[in-house]
Amino acid sequence: MDRFRVTGRVRLAGSIPISGAKNAALPSLCACLLTGEKLQIENVPPVRDVRTTLRLLQYIGVDVEETAEGSVLLKAAGLEKPEAPYDLVKTMRASVLVLGPLLARTGRARVSLPGGCTIGARPIDFHIEALRRMGARIEVEHGYVTAKSSRLRGVEYHFPGRSVTGTENLLMAATLAAGTTVLHNCATEPEVADLARLLRAMGAKIEGAGTTTIHVEGVDALHSAAHRIIPDRIEAGTFLVAAALTGGDVTLRECAPEHLGTVLDLLERCGQGIEKNDGEIRIIGKVPPAPVDMATGPYPEFPTDLQAQFMVLMTQATGTSVIRETIFENRFQHAAELRRMGASISLSGRNATVKGASRLSGACLMATDLRASACLVLAGLVAEGETIIDRVYHVDRGYVRIEEKLRKLGARLERIQGS
Ligand code: EPZ
Repeated sequence: MDRFRVTGRVRLAGSIPISGAKNAALPSLCACLLTGEKLQIENVPPVRDVRTTLRLLQYIGVDVEETAEGSVLLKAAGLEKPEAPYDLVKTMRASVLVLGPLLARTGRARVSLPGGCTIGARPIDFHIEALRRMGARIEVEHGYVTAKSSRLRGVEYHFPGRSVTGTENLLMAATLAAGTTVLHNCATEPEVADLARLLRAMGAKIEGAGTTTIHVEGVDALHSAAHRIIPDRIEAGTFLVAAALTGGDVTLRECAPEHLGTVLDLLERCGQGIEKNDGEIRIIGKVPPAPVDMATGPYPEFPTDLQAQFMVLMTQATGTSVIRETIFENRFQHAAELRRMGASISLSGRNATVKGASRLSGACLMATDLRASACLVLAGLVAEGETIIDRVYHVDRGYVRIEEKLRKLGARLERIQGS
């Protein structure tokens, strides 16, 4: 397994491009299952989760062709095996995104239950309940969701809670259902709106994507389309925190400042200088930052996927801050590793109290999940001495060559090839 070696206390400066959003690419790639015609998806980030998704789609019977970096052609002409097997799903929960489209296109699907992961139980009960309401007959047994349906029918459904992939699964299923579907309490993340943009280009009739209420008029078939994935707001936020931590001066290109409103506000409140231009964000870091309390929440609130990164920043603040994680029940795994570096963090239920002015020292660390791993890289950038981070395949799931981008900004970071 590859490891990272990071040498801390280097001020970052320069400019880097932001890649396509992993969490927009995954549903958009799965949307190919809704038509037998060709889809062309651009700006797809070459990360592990994308490779896993393409492998899964090929297993199902999709022709996949990667024409250049970030450009993928997909054609789901013959779907021999409408199934997502355990050995693929266990490495990536988002495989559940094939459930809705397979059911809508072929009338059957067999998808392994994603199972929990380090950040929480990650149930898919909303997905299953809503598809049952659309007429699907769904059994959950032996670790698999087995679904059958003649043509799905439009339904009015209220999500019990905001679910990003739940909204995306039902949105895709509704495009081919008979009649009208109205979904309430939908997730409003930019990635949902991006998927809807692709589906409309394929001929779907969708209103309201990006708001909490989405209307879909089912059609008989969808057709080919070309689509460009939006920039990755979580990658961008991760690099903004890296610049803040090192008092750097960094410009992010090819990004979407409009997707980072709450994050930019919080960074300004803790003293960082932020300049927004069309498709660019410049951050002039200020060390030490001021302490700022924060709570994660559904978009447009602070994204849970940036909570761990923000916690590292608050270990350097001029006072104490409280971070509240409202989305996942177990998303403070990174706190223990940060404590090993010298951070002073106390946990109580969904709250983490972070004392500032912690001098972090380099240590040997273990990555546990995608965003916690990114947080350990950030901690290494600000720590005294050398930090070794093991199991960086977690980082590779969601970041495109993170070490190259950080090195371009002056970071002293190298990948040690694993045995
Ligand atoms: C998406 O996960 C993202 N993944 C996650 O990013 C992100 O953290 C999360 O949304 C934020 O809400 C992708 O888009 C591929 P949810 P998702 O359904 O859809 C509960 C990353 O690092 N819930 O929005 O799986 C659930 O337990 C990943 O890129 C149910 O109870 O998350 C959680 O508490 C991590 N029943 C809350 O809702 C359901 O059927 C939000 O989950 C579905 C969800």
